[in-house]
Amino acid sequence: MAASALLLAALAVFVAAVAAAALDTSPVPFDAGYAALFGGDNLVRSPDGRGVTLKLDRYTGSGFVSKAAYRHGFFSASIKLPGDYTAGVVVAFYLSNWDEHPKNHDELDFELLGNRRGHGWRVQTNMYGNGSTSRGREERYLLPVDATVAAAHRYAIAWTPNNVVFYLDGVPIREVVRVPSMGGDFPSKPMSVYATIWDGSNWATDGGKYKVDYAYAPFAAEFSDLVLSGCHGAAEECQVDLLTHDVAVMAPAKRAAMRGFREQYLTYTACRDRVRYKTTVFPECDDLADGGSTFHEWGESKKTRRRSASPLLYSSRMQ
Ligand SMILES: *[C@@H]1O[C@H](CO)[C@@H](O)[C@H](O)[C@H]1NC(C)=O
Repeated sequence: MAASALLLAALAVFVAAVAAAALDTSPVPFDAGYAALFGGDNLVRSPDGRGVTLKLDRYTGSGFVSKAAYRHGFFSASIKLPGDYTAGVVVAFYLSNWDEHPKNHDELDFELLGNRRGHGWRVQTNMYGNGSTSRGREERYLLPVDATVAAAHRYAIAWTPNNVVFYLDGVPIREVVRVPSMGGDFPSKPMSVYATIWDGSNWATDGGKYKVDYAYAPFAAEFSDLVLSGCHGAAEECQVDLLTHDVAVMAPAKRAAMRGFREQYLTYTACRDRVRYKTTVFPECDDLADGGSTFHEWGESKKTRRRSASPLLYSSRMQ
């Protein structure tokens, strides 16, 4: 009797815990979660206060930053990118603590890279941990939309103590699973959330071949549906909610969707780049099932459209 009562009590606690595993992923008004970072009048709040437009002109880009820093969480934004000629333009949605830890910062990135007219935007993801800037873990993908269709797309990052999942329109496109041999390379310190638009002429489009042309300025990126479901401080409950939430759990169907996306749209991965990384081993990389045969030795996919005869530049200091 006593044992079954105990079991019931334990079950009740368990059910309560599961019921509480409801991370609030509803969007917040811009001013509730974010503040302007730079760019003055080039940051324009939407009339309903729920979004913001970031513009780049010949004088300045613009950006915003979360009011709080978070240790793990789920962060997302819908972004409508500028059309027409956008070569050299970079729109970034990312987490970083570079301001607090310039020598050993953590970072998780979405970088959207503009292109010439008729060529689609590229999507790049990246991760740094504890100042691992000599080990950029870039991946690039085609944005799977017709560039002439000016639609917003949703970019999301789930960051837990165990993994990072990047989402595009709800589809997981990359998971980085934390493994012990990564050491500090996996982000572990609180980070703020940033969004910026800036001139990346020297690297963003075909390794800097095509630069920003200000005849097409201003370049405007519209942000909406801002989700900031981050954990503060050492709130254990929040970490548990996050770890058990759909956004962090890679169920088999999600894994299959991710594989499908990557087969079709992945154009480059540092995991397969033996030119740039002759000796560096990324311990999280060995789950690529292809054995390397579908990639050139400089990390570009043989299947997707993008071709280049030499390694490209992969990043540049943000802001
Ligand atoms: C992170 O970097 C700092 C300073 O370089 C170092 O003292 C610390 O041990 C590193 N932490 C990890 C987990 O590698």
